[in-house]
Amino acid sequence: MKKIVDNKVLTLQPVPQTIVSCRDAQGKDNALVVGFAANVSLNPPMIMVGIMPSRYSHHMVKETGCFVVNLPAKDQKEAYDYLGSHSGANEDKLAKLGLKTENGTAVNAPILSNCPVSIECSVVESIKPGTHELFIGLVEAVHCDEQYLDEQGNIQWDRINLL
Ligand SMILES: Cc1cc2nc3c(=O)[nH]c(=O)nc-3n(C[C@H](O)[C@H](O)[C@H](O)COP(=O)(O)O)c2cc1C
Repeated sequence: MKKIVDNKVLTLQPVPQTIVSCRDAQGKDNALVVGFAANVSLNPPMIMVGIMPSRYSHHMVKETGCFVVNLPAKDQKEAYDYLGSHSGANEDKLAKLGLKTENGTAVNAPILSNCPVSIECSVVESIKPGTHELFIGLVEAVHCDEQYLDEQGNIQWDRINLL
């Protein structure tokens, strides 16, 4: 039998495991772990990330109006944990972790080269109903390691060892 739980503060499970990379107006790059990530629309393709204003990345997304959602592989757990527990306000996390990046092809934000999937987004709308600012991003480009694509160029999700 179910009982009513007193604490209403929860997150839907399972929480998506994403790393959002971004760039500020001066060209400084950063990345953070984001669990508030969701599908928004198929046509036009849009996804959403929720970032608290207290995160260093927040002003970066505001400034450049774009971000990249990177889906990490299981062997990137160490970098994932670090990016989710240290702030770019205090250090260059990407350099510290030795993470390889490349420029987005469609937006002004870095792509984490070693994540099997990276999704470039431009912000079309943002709302802040509570703790997190929800940035709705139009999907401008999707990158996937060649080894996970079938002959038609579709992503074979079941073959990727996502975290
Ligand atoms: C599993 C996990 C999920 C997280 N989800 C979010 C999130 O959805 N939004 C957010 O603003 N911070 C989230 N964080 C916290 C940030 O990743 C963390 O505070 C990070 O250090 C912020 O980096 P920054 O200050 O360089 O932007 C999450 C952390 C972890 C470990």
